[in-house]
Amino acid sequence: MCFLCVGFTEQQGIDMDVEFDVHLGIAHTRWATHGAPSPVNSHPHRSDKNNEFIVIHNGIITNYKDLRKFLESKDYEFESETDTETIAKLVKYMYDNRENDELSFTTLVERVTQQLEGAFVLVFKSVHYPGEAVGTRRGGPLLIGVKCDHKLSTDHIPILYRSTGKDKMGCTALPRVDQDTSLFPTDEKAVEYYFASDASAVIEHTNRVIFLEDDDVAAVNEGRLSIHRIKRTAGDHPARAIQTLQMELQQIMKGNYRAFMQKEIFEQPESVFNTMRGRVNFDDNTVMLGGLKDHIKEIQRCRRLILIACGTSYHAGVATRQVLEELTELPVMVELSSDFLDRNTPVFRDDVCFFISQSGETADSLMALRYCKERGALTVGITNTVGSSISRETDCGVHINAGPEIGVASTKAYTSQFVALIMFALLMCDDRISMQPRRREIIQGLRVLPDLIKEVLSLDDEIKNLAEELYQQKSVLIMGRGYHYATCLEGALKIKEITYMHSEGILAGELKHGPLALVDKLMPVIMIIMRDHTYVKCQNALQQVVARQGRPIVICDRDDQETINNSSRTINVPHCVDCLQGVLSVIPLQLLSFHLAVLRGYDVDCPRNLAKSVTVE
Ligand code: F6R
Repeated sequence: MCFLCVGFTEQQGIDMDVEFDVHLGIAHTRWATHGAPSPVNSHPHRSDKNNEFIVIHNGIITNYKDLRKFLESKDYEFESETDTETIAKLVKYMYDNRENDELSFTTLVERVTQQLEGAFVLVFKSVHYPGEAVGTRRGGPLLIGVKCDHKLSTDHIPILYRSTGKDKMGCTALPRVDQDTSLFPTDEKAVEYYFASDASAVIEHTNRVIFLEDDDVAAVNEGRLSIHRIKRTAGDHPARAIQTLQMELQQIMKGNYRAFMQKEIFEQPESVFNTMRGRVNFDDNTVMLGGLKDHIKEIQRCRRLILIACGTSYHAGVATRQVLEELTELPVMVELSSDFLDRNTPVFRDDVCFFISQSGETADSLMALRYCKERGALTVGITNTVGSSISRETDCGVHINAGPEIGVASTKAYTSQFVALIMFALLMCDDRISMQPRRREIIQGLRVLPDLIKEVLSLDDEIKNLAEELYQQKSVLIMGRGYHYATCLEGALKIKEITYMHSEGILAGELKHGPLALVDKLMPVIMIIMRDHTYVKCQNALQQVVARQGRPIVICDRDDQETINNSSRTINVPHCVDCLQGVLSVIPLQLLSFHLAVLRGYDVDCPRNLAKSVTVE
């Protein structure tokens, strides 16, 4: 038996609550890139009214306008505004113009993808190839879940390579090959297959998966799987491994929580602990990162560190930059992937470039990674997704081990990225005698961090009350500096993305250069004031806001009587070593954004217009 289900982890499709009795099917919920979310723009797209070919697609086809023009000139009529429909029409065009009847479905798909530009993950079905589905990827993630009740006969699927040449249409001619030796399974045992963009979509059915590479074409035909490539190039591995994921189903269940985001906020004592598990030795103050051990000497010799990421992951870079500079004594740049690429930023062979990404699939970060690799820099991944494109394409890296993050708004991944970067900084200076007191202080701070996070989480009711006072406001300003500037940016991002309120993270040092004009007695202001080297300056900022009749809510150290006395309202968090305090200061804002979104009646886990994995530019 062959059962194939396709799950892509993006939103904005059409709700489907229908059961089908089929042994092979394709479906897709996706993030609209071309055309508004609507039934006509939904997937699958078809080649014609007889549904000769249907296709689902994750990504963007950048040359779709040219292809559409060409196909319209051949009298193809389009039903939607999407780039995907072009693929459905193109596959039919190439099928109708085939040179002989022996054309296999995989060859046909290979020919189609040769005409496509952009990033795509595709799965096709056709009445001309009954019982078969073909999937392929370029620049986006695609994996195959493999489910069977018996022991697998092999844990590798050999790739089928084909010889090349030109056919009558000027396309690469790909003769049929004898597939028997490379079909999986090699025996007659029943296997079910699931094509998906993310492991969390298949874990309910199986924890055995095959990660496909760019330009692999995988076919499931009558219950057997084969993987094809046009030709073998240097460095290609001639097989794809069937890997066993460590992910458990319960890890992606909501349990008693109202939303995944809420569950993930409350998981942070464990997720942060898991990031450190087996890596930090609190007794002898050492750090071991297996994924970096072969490269650490090279990293120590580098010219500068560049941290590259998007959104929340970028904020993790901003949050840890100062301690990285302090402990590594290297210049550290923190870059938004898109802007880094837009600027054609100079990158050198002796740079070390970090790619911080929860999903490991963010298109902008992946492109920035390839850009840095081309320039000879050493690349390091900081990811939460084993087998993701960024973790596979980087030279080395650290898995943050936060467990699956399902809510679109990232929470536990942020605090684990934060801790992973701090562990890296500690490793970089483990043999510097002068750094040892500071290292010990930070490592002992890491030891107590999970318990301190629990204490912050116990403020939940207090924060819910605050949300009840704020939820009808239009705007919230969040101010801080030093280690907490990243908390301001991250708190504001959480509030905007799930509550749709305007929110802005403001560097307190910039207040008098503009933002102070926004402050009056009506504007909600949250300030972060901690007992670190910026404390006196933050007190000044507090005075400036109060002098403009602002009534800020201050997140502060619970022992800081001065701030508590000077403020109309405070959220008191436990004290921690300065460079880790940002892990504690962000949690009240994660909780606040969650409660605000619930009170405003929004779907916390699936905010409008956003996707968990942004696999398009
Ligand atoms: C915000 C959020 C996004 C992601 C960004 C990068 O809550 O989740 O800003 O942080 O899209 O995603 P990753 O980390 O998967 O590269």
